[in-house]
Amino acid sequence: MDMKSIVQVRVAKTEYPIWIGAGVLSGFAEFLSAQTDWSKSVALIVDENVFPLHGAKVQSILQAAGFKVLTITVQAGERTKSMDSLGPILSQMAQAKLDRGSAVIALGGGVVGDLAGFVAAIYLRGVPFVQIPTSLLAMVDSSVGGKTGVNLPEGKNLVGAFYQPDLVIVELDFLLTLPPREYAAGMAEVIKYGVIADRALFDSLKSMTDLDRGKMIQRCIEIKAEIVAKDEKETLGFRALLNFGHTLGHAIENGAGYGVLLHGEAVAIGMRAAAHLSQELAGMPKAEVAEIEAMMTQYHLPLEAKGLSSEAIFRALGTDKKVKAGKNRWILSKKIGESHVTDQVPQESLERVMSLVLK
Ligand SMILES: NC(=O)c1ccc[n+]([C@@H]2O[C@H](COP(=O)([O-])OP(=O)(O)OC[C@H]3O[C@@H](n4cnc5c(N)ncnc54)[C@H](O)[C@@H]3O)[C@@H](O)[C@H]2O)c1
Repeated sequence: MDMKSIVQVRVAKTEYPIWIGAGVLSGFAEFLSAQTDWSKSVALIVDENVFPLHGAKVQSILQAAGFKVLTITVQAGERTKSMDSLGPILSQMAQAKLDRGSAVIALGGGVVGDLAGFVAAIYLRGVPFVQIPTSLLAMVDSSVGGKTGVNLPEGKNLVGAFYQPDLVIVELDFLLTLPPREYAAGMAEVIKYGVIADRALFDSLKSMTDLDRGKMIQRCIEIKAEIVAKDEKETLGFRALLNFGHTLGHAIENGAGYGVLLHGEAVAIGMRAAAHLSQELAGMPKAEVAEIEAMMTQYHLPLEAKGLSSEAIFRALGTDKKVKAGKNRWILSKKIGESHVTDQVPQESLERVMSLVLK
């Protein structure tokens, strides 16, 4: 692919670019110089794993462009996406006298992106925001679309805001340091895009080279950007398609206890269940269900969750944020590359697929 590809996201009344490529981070300096209405101080929010690997590079670009950098390092992991993290971050920003023109820059995976995005949305009722995703999942999914927020002890992502960034920089070189298990978890979301919207993308995953990686990521971002442009706040039924495998995936993630299965791993198991439901209820050919399962295996993703009871999963399903009028929404696919939303999934069908994926 070219050195740099740009996907333009149009959502609500705003528009912003996503840069994708190896080496694209270096263009950040020029972008920064062009933001004449921004203040010359920024908050860089990064986790403790990513900071030693990539923090200095981003800091030095910011400093070279004349910015004073307040670096806020947070613990890595889902627990950091909490109400407790917000107060100290916001206080540090206030103590450093960051003002309405001071950008928040998120450098990290989805945890840092969601947390920092929410900080950008609420500090002084909203400041400029730049996403620099470093995990595959954050590149193809969480950095696109404007959902920001934190978890409550009562459930994931229960507090947040839609807040669009001014720029997203997808620097492919950051993937070189990503642990393989995290890479695989990101691939679950990539496979999802293929199943819900793009047969050609799905097929391309069967034999991939490193050179194809940029194209793959770009295609996922395009699909997400198209969906988000049509349905920013998930009210029209399009954005819900992104939840293929996620209804059960969230319940499995929650049932196993957060931190046991990575989000992408739980989603992979949820997608397998969704594929079987699709065969039974939407006419997906059996051979395609097998193709989806083979793809999970190819990318080292699990096909079943061990030690979980279906009772625990049904309990967790009852607290899914996306439950509407007591019914869960399911995304089914009649064939790879197409998907639709339904709440018509009989309890018996659910129990059947649960017995398949819970061991
Ligand atoms: N906002 C959205 O639309 C959206 C969509 C999907 C998921 N999410 C959220 O994203 C979060 C999961 O994101 P994630 O999977 O990126 O998790 P994460 O942010 O915890 O990152 C995963 C791990 O990889 C490490 N890491 C990240 N980049 C690295 C790199 N380049 N080199 C070495 N280590 C690196 C992190 O320190 C962390 O330990 C969840 O909280 C989920 O709710 C949000």
